[in-house]
Amino acid sequence: MALLKSNKVLSCLGNITPSLGVLSARNSSWWGGVQMGPPDPILGVSEAFKRDTNPKKMNLGVGAYRDDQGKPFVLSCVRKAEALIAAKQLDKEYLPIGGLGDFSKACAQLALGADNEVLKSGRNITVQTISGTGSLRIGANFLSRFHGGPRDVYLPKPSWGNHTPIFRDAGMQLKAYRYYDPSTCGFDFSGALEDISKIPEQSVILLHACAHNPTGVDPRPEQWKEISDIVKKRNLLVFFDMAYQGFASGDIDRDAWAVRYFIEQGHNILLSQSFAKNMGLYGERVGGFTVVCKDNEEAKRVESQLKILIRPIYSNPPMNGARIATTILNTPDLRALWLEEVHGMANRIIKMREQLSAGLKKHGSSHNWQHVIDQIGMFCFTGLKPEQVERLTKEFSVYMTKDGRISMAGVSSGNVGYLAEAIHAVSK
Ligand SMILES: Cc1ncc(COP(=O)(O)O)c(C=O)c1O
Repeated sequence: MALLKSNKVLSCLGNITPSLGVLSARNSSWWGGVQMGPPDPILGVSEAFKRDTNPKKMNLGVGAYRDDQGKPFVLSCVRKAEALIAAKQLDKEYLPIGGLGDFSKACAQLALGADNEVLKSGRNITVQTISGTGSLRIGANFLSRFHGGPRDVYLPKPSWGNHTPIFRDAGMQLKAYRYYDPSTCGFDFSGALEDISKIPEQSVILLHACAHNPTGVDPRPEQWKEISDIVKKRNLLVFFDMAYQGFASGDIDRDAWAVRYFIEQGHNILLSQSFAKNMGLYGERVGGFTVVCKDNEEAKRVESQLKILIRPIYSNPPMNGARIATTILNTPDLRALWLEEVHGMANRIIKMREQLSAGLKKHGSSHNWQHVIDQIGMFCFTGLKPEQVERLTKEFSVYMTKDGRISMAGVSSGNVGYLAEAIHAVSK
């Protein structure tokens, strides 16, 4: 019975068909029943880009920051922190299951604000995780094991492509609430409120704290206030995903506003943080997972169970990136340099948005491209249709996801004119 049930679940995934045949016969394969899965939609774009020989080609698929020369960017504060760490000749012993204690503390302070009542009363538990993805997955596993309410997690429509498999693989069920309005390329505020007001009590709602991926559309503060009210009325459990703190506006406090507001309003949230984008620590895999609890005693119990969850998955997290992030956050001159550099990255993206919109106007585009400027963060949801995206790739070697999302971080002063010309050509 248990086997039948699990096979049913697996075949729902489409790309996994467990082989139930005779497995031990000589010359037969153990994995004959494993079907070829589809390529990852974003990494697939990068593969196609690599094969293209057009010198003007642009990869706007992957969400990684590039400098104005189109090169991967290592922040100076990171280089300096690395030098300080190297000089200390530290050991390479295992970290505790929950990671580097100083990191977790600094990570929670960054999100909540150092003088937050939650931190002062010790009613949060924050553990170091394997970047934002690892944090979301530990959170999903925690929900799956301990959340007493419905197993439904409500995602904005659309949401980051990895949210669905993260929660689904942890055994949760995915539902959606309206978020993006294609007719305005903006936030569907009334649709979101209407849908949220119908979510069954005690369900989980996922909110992007800032720089919503993939749309670049964020609620305004007064809209967040109404969302908070309705979420409270429905008694929903809020899971904030904050993968872009500082990267949206260039200001770490402004970008954390919604998270802090919800806590102030009494929501005991779950929070995922990533240092991939705001510190450029992509491959170092640095993140944090926080549970805000009723009191310190509850936080201690939750901490014990998070450790029990983490231990059989990866035992304990890697130390290098956490040491870098902690050194930056806790060394005043490096922290000041970091804030300047985050601001610089966000500003470069904002400038590219303005230049892209101006370029489209210059080419005589009759469409309204205001949303290119209004949207925020790494991504721009252009509103281009799949057939226009296909033409951009085929005729202009501009690579992006089929939904019309472009990574503004891949646009530079050297190629923004070409991009405007290409978008105009396929949309006129
Ligand atoms: C919305 C959102 N959440 C989480 C992540 C997690 O990223 P990482 O695991 O690299 O920290 C990303 C990365 O693109 C994202 O866009």
